Amino acid sequence: MLKAVLFDLDGVITDTAKFHFLAWRDLGAELGITVDEAFNEELKGVSRIDSLERILAHGGVADKYSSAEKEAFCTKKNDHYLELIQEMTPADILPGILPLLKELREAGLKTIVTSASKNAPGILALLQVKDYFDGIVDPASVAAGKPAPDIFLAGAELAGAKPAECIGVEDAASGVDAIKAANITAVAIGDATVLGHADRVLADTSALSLAVLRDTWEQAI
Ligand code: G6P
Ligand code: MG
Repeated sequence: MLKAVLFDLDGVITDTAKFHFLAWRDLGAELGITVDEAFNEELKGVSRIDSLERILAHGGVADKYSSAEKEAFCTKKNDHYLELIQEMTPADILPGILPLLKELREAGLKTIVTSASKNAPGILALLQVKDYFDGIVDPASVAAGKPAPDIFLAGAELAGAKPAECIGVEDAASGVDAIKAANITAVAIGDATVLGHADRVLADTSALSLAVLRDTWEQAI
């Protein structure tokens, strides 16, 4: 039986992906590195420090900066990101998500946030959806980030469910990799050419419903 839904946050519950992009793009520009939308795709689902490492490698300066300098770059990026998201309200919840969360509550399924973002609790508070979730996995508590399965395995455990009793929802290729590596059924939101390794790809969140999740899970299991 399907018991739990494990939700990525950025790009699934709300469109913070565009703000992460803007903040990295501006930091990249300061460092003389071009972060365009195509390259940004590789940063989705990737932790803050790993995103910075990828950007520096992309700019051919992987070994140029000390740990302290990298830490400062991450803080700068996050400060900018927090400025960009502070105006967010419940109106910024992506289409279909709130009805889905209500449906899941009524059906008694567990709901867990499995995001790499350390800002997830703050964003859920801005969106006023915290009460719809049974738990948030702390990304700092897992050994390896996406595409490793750790955060989704931790999410299943938090839900009190086996991986085979869960379904994960993701917008990032690395996130779909992580779900599949955890032996969990994956629903992806976005471009099928990037996310084709998911069990089902939906163009956007408005197509999400408990019926679609159940159908995907039953066909995959
Ligand atoms: C999500 C986003 C990534 C972001 C990561 C860490 O996975 O898709 O773009 O880098 O979270 O977010 P944070 O808010 O902790 O910097
Ligand atoms: Mg995401």
